[in-house]
Amino acid sequence: MANGADFFAQIRDMLAGSKRVVFLTGAGISKESGIPTFRGNDGLWKSYDPVKLASLSAFLENPSLVWEFYSYRQRLIRKCRPNPAHVAISRIEDQKKGDGCWVLTQNVDGLHRCAGSKNIVELHGNIFKAKCIQCGFYGDMDMDMGVDAAAAAALPPKCPNCGSVLKPGVVLFEEALPQKEWAKAIGIASSCDLMLIVGTSLNVSPANALPFCAKDNKAVLVEVNPEETWLSRSMDFTLKGSAADVLPRIVTY
Ligand code: OAD
Ligand code: ZN
Repeated sequence: MANGADFFAQIRDMLAGSKRVVFLTGAGISKESGIPTFRGNDGLWKSYDPVKLASLSAFLENPSLVWEFYSYRQRLIRKCRPNPAHVAISRIEDQKKGDGCWVLTQNVDGLHRCAGSKNIVELHGNIFKAKCIQCGFYGDMDMDMGVDAAAAAALPPKCPNCGSVLKPGVVLFEEALPQKEWAKAIGIASSCDLMLIVGTSLNVSPANALPFCAKDNKAVLVEVNPEETWLSRSMDFTLKGSAADVLPRIVTY
């Protein structure tokens, strides 16, 4: 395991030589955009109970409460812009061209796309989408609900096709990942030669299996995180620091 500033140049060389680089990203990459992470002292799950607000059983029992939580998060995220870490990844995708660079993200905030990345797999869905579990409708759902009483009373939203209650377009606890996205992510991770694991605690399965897919393909693993994770010691390189500080330093402009 290697660490520290000396390794930026080495990572830049590896990026230039890599046939396929993958960024596996989590909440930490969006922290400097103003979006809280989930775990840790100032994490979202310290103040909000995911079992009551972000699980499939909670949704089935009280869809309005779950929608209130997600519309609150939508309002917060709508104000946030990509930070230099998102922009650096988008720049690397431009340089690698074709499908030489991918983002596999656990984030639902859409900031990679806002920063210009195109090769993105959203493993946990997107907070600005909604899904109908009856007829399969999947569409945009950017609502400003909860701002006034009348809008709040309209929760939960109904499917434009069949009138059933819509589910937030994010993966809830107790739900499987969307199969198409998961299969695509495994294929991409298993065929990369370089994986940068940015801003994730790697606590959530199955996304946390993706570094092992990369390792099976003998990919070099690089972690970017200010804290140690349970997988830090298995990384080839750990760049300790915030994503917005570290990622611009591995881009060759
Ligand atoms: P976590 O909140 O579990 O982990 C965030 C990670 O980001 C931690 O390892 C922090 O040390 C790191 N971090 C904090 N600030 C950072 C910064 N400025 N730059 C880089 N890293 C930083 O978030 P995830 O691993 O993304 O799932 O969590 C995975 C899933 O758990 C989420 O997608 C969500 C959650 O429950 C669902 O909602 C389905
Ligand atoms: Zn429907």
